[in-house]
Order: sequence, then C-alpha cells, then structure tokens
Amino acid sequence: MKLFIDSGDMDEIREAQAMGAIDGVTTNPSLLAKAGRPTKETLLAICEIVDGPISGEVLATDFEGILAEGRELAALHPNIVVKVPLIEEGLKAVKTFTDEGIKTNVTLCFSAPQALLAAKAGATYISPFVGRVDDTGGDGMELIEQIVSIYDNYDFDTQVLTASVRHPTHFIQAALIGSHVATVPFKVIRQLLKHPLTDIGLARFLEDAKKIPAS
Ligand code: E4P
Repeated sequence: MKLFIDSGDMDEIREAQAMGAIDGVTTNPSLLAKAGRPTKETLLAICEIVDGPISGEVLATDFEGILAEGRELAALHPNIVVKVPLIEEGLKAVKTFTDEGIKTNVTLCFSAPQALLAAKAGATYISPFVGRVDDTGGDGMELIEQIVSIYDNYDFDTQVLTASVRHPTHFIQAALIGSHVATVPFKVIRQLLKHPLTDIGLARFLEDAKKIPAS
C-alpha cells in the first residue's frame, strides 16, 4: 500500500520524506490555510520535496469553474493531481479531466455508490473519509471494504485512497483490506513507527553495551 502524507506543513513533509516513508502528498483547503501561504506557492514547494502525486483541491463548485481551476493547478507541475469534490458538477469535470489526461482525486466520499460513480467518471483516486464516517457513528473501514470489492468486481482502474485516517489501526486495516493508498497525518506516521518494546529493547542494549570491554 502506498503511503501519502496528509499535510501542508513543509517541516512535516520534509521530515516524512527524509524517513523514506512517503509516496505522495494530499492537501485540502483547511490544511493549506494552516500553511499560511498562497495555494500555488505551497503546492510548488511540496513538489520540490516529494517526487510523487501531490493533490491540490479546487474551490469552485460549478463545472466551468472547476475546469478552469483544475487546469491551472495541473499546469503547475506534472505531479499535481486535481482534487475535486464528489458533487454532480465535480463528476462532470472529472470526466473532462480524464479525457484531457489530467489526474484527479475525488474527495469527500462517504458512500459506496458515490465511489462507483467517481470510478465511472474515470477518477484516478477516490478518497473515502474513514475518520469522519466513524465520527458520525458509521464504520469507515466497512466503507473501504465495500469500495475495494466493487472496484475489484468490475476491474476499475480508480485507486482507493483511504483518507481521514486518525490512528494506526485505520492504516493497518486499510492495508489488510487492499486499499491502494492511505493518506496519513504526520502525527499518525510517527505513531506507526512507535513500539514500546523497541524503546525498552534499545535502552537495555545501550545499558548493556556499557559493560563491553573497550579493548
Ligand atoms: C484527505 O484528502 C483529506 O485531506 C483528509 O484526510 C481529511 O481528514 P480529516 O477528516 O482528519 O480532516
């Protein structure tokens, strides 16, 4: 499973990249607002750090507006993936982007039928938000299972990008189900590598090493 970082923070992205952990980056307007720079500037800076798919989201909600914004984003850098909300005008735009060879990430997916329609429009990625489904009493991982099965049944090329990941269990479940990608906040990437027995074992080795004769 590919691992993307869900962030607009350059320090986090640089650090995750240095760990060799990440294959790509997703952003959204909330994350870019925290970055405190104009969107295009942030996306270009990310492209300098990570050589992989970088999702940047359109803000328009009408067909022509989504097309104009998406084309502008796509022209920034060959690695830019245009993130489009899962609404009717969005799907129409995804179909056009697909015909033009522009990669898309269809975002704010909360149901299997939405994911099926996004795949039919030719989406490169579908982003089901597992954490937000859980927040409303649903089962986010069940949604990933449904979408992976449906895409497998009909050989869709659209990749399932598990999003709104809140903890390592979401990540490992996504991998077990066969999600193609998971996009994960930096805090959770750090949690993925942590194990108390690793820390205890390392402390013991370093302590014992003091007893090794110098020569
Ligand atoms: C995905 O592309 C979104 O940016 C993100 O995963 C949303 O996560 P949140 O529900 O934690 O805001």
